[in-house]
Amino acid sequence: MDIKKIFENNATWVNEKLGKDENYFKNLSKGQSPDILYIGCADSRVTAEELMGVSPGEAFVHRNIANMVPNTDLSSMSVIEYAVGHLKVKHVVVCGHYYCGGVKAAMESKDLGVLNPWLRNIRDVYRIYNDELNNINDEEARYKRLVELNVYEQCVNVLKTAVVQKAFRERGVSVHGWVFDIHTGKLIDLAVNTQKIVDSVREIYHLE
Ligand code: CO
Repeated sequence: MDIKKIFENNATWVNEKLGKDENYFKNLSKGQSPDILYIGCADSRVTAEELMGVSPGEAFVHRNIANMVPNTDLSSMSVIEYAVGHLKVKHVVVCGHYYCGGVKAAMESKDLGVLNPWLRNIRDVYRIYNDELNNINDEEARYKRLVELNVYEQCVNVLKTAVVQKAFRERGVSVHGWVFDIHTGKLIDLAVNTQKIVDSVREIYHLE
């Protein structure tokens, strides 16, 4: 890709926006109040706004390898704190995708250096569901199932945070687990039940 082309693309985009609304950027600069916090994978094939069909200002976006929400990761924790506590988003989405390289790497035994502690979080998900996963003989099916289970466990991690627990109590913020199917382009809703997760983690992770 010619990096200069990006600036040409940007100029075209600015003109398109201004052609439809001459105050577009003036209004955009006034502030943001997105309804959605989207946490997805950094994979170049899995966009955030484009696959959801949302415009600038509509989704607060955080992406990292394999859409993880580790308790000690200052970046994702800060994003959640800001989006839920300050911007007061109504929905938190964790969106994984089939054929995720991060999930694949966690299923293999390679030493990947600094990636090891990151991928360890996915291995921990595998360990929780060890029996279920080991009963799936087809490797691709097992890989896809781990993608789904990882999304679910990251939704649980979202609900372990104090800010989301508070927002759930006070204004019913909801948490959604989705998978993007690269083969079809379709989003799949895993129908995560926020209340059920809250109930299941309350005893141990409850924070006030
Ligand atoms: Co991925």
